[in-house]
Amino acid sequence: MKTTFLMKSDSVDLEQYTIKDIPGSSGRLDVLARSILSALLCEGQFDINSKLIIFLARYGTFKLDPRFLDYSKFPKNEILLSDSLCKLLKSEDIHNIHSNPLNGIKKLDLSFISFIKKLRIKGSPFLFILKESGILFSQMLKEQRLMDEIYLIIGNQSEDFINSEEFLHFNIPEISLGSKSLLASTTIRLLKLKMALLR
Ligand SMILES: C[S@@+](CC[C@H](N)C(=O)[O-])C[C@H]1O[C@@H](n2cnc3c(N)ncnc32)[C@H](O)[C@@H]1O
Repeated sequence: MKTTFLMKSDSVDLEQYTIKDIPGSSGRLDVLARSILSALLCEGQFDINSKLIIFLARYGTFKLDPRFLDYSKFPKNEILLSDSLCKLLKSEDIHNIHSNPLNGIKKLDLSFISFIKKLRIKGSPFLFILKESGILFSQMLKEQRLMDEIYLIIGNQSEDFINSEEFLHFNIPEISLGSKSLLASTTIRLLKLKMALLR
């Protein structure tokens, strides 16, 4: 099952970024870095069934697809990845960053809402939001026939956008991994484990 995780952040701001205090100086770039590692890495290699798209209010939309990334160069811990992400996001032209280990990331000219609209127009039925209040993932899998491709939206700290009027209007089904509030990176890892059991 090909999985694309969708994450949106309005808080990432790298003006005061320092590697000494990534959470406090970047608007929680660390959350994205941990989530990227969870989504793309799997037992010493890239998980080619998994992609992640980040929608950043200040920097734009970026698609991380392992097919276009070099595993040998890819930063494999949160600090190195945050640092490379910071250099990439602050660069004038991401196509001109050949020395950056994240060379291969694609910049998309789509906002979060327009991306969701595009999925809807494309008629891709398998778009879900991850939320404690949703139906249990295991239950959802019983009701749904297996899917080739699935899009999974992971909320941010305040969960403001997944509770916004504009977003609720899409009426996207919610799935849960239980009543405990998990970190975004843990949510991604747990989902991948559950989906791997289906293969
Ligand atoms: C609330 S944010 C927390 C972000 C946090 N600052 C971090 O470091 O990851 C985590 C997101 O993970 C998902 N999530 C967390 N716990 C969950 C659960 N039990 N079931 C489904 N999704 C969950 C939701 O999308 C939620 O918006």
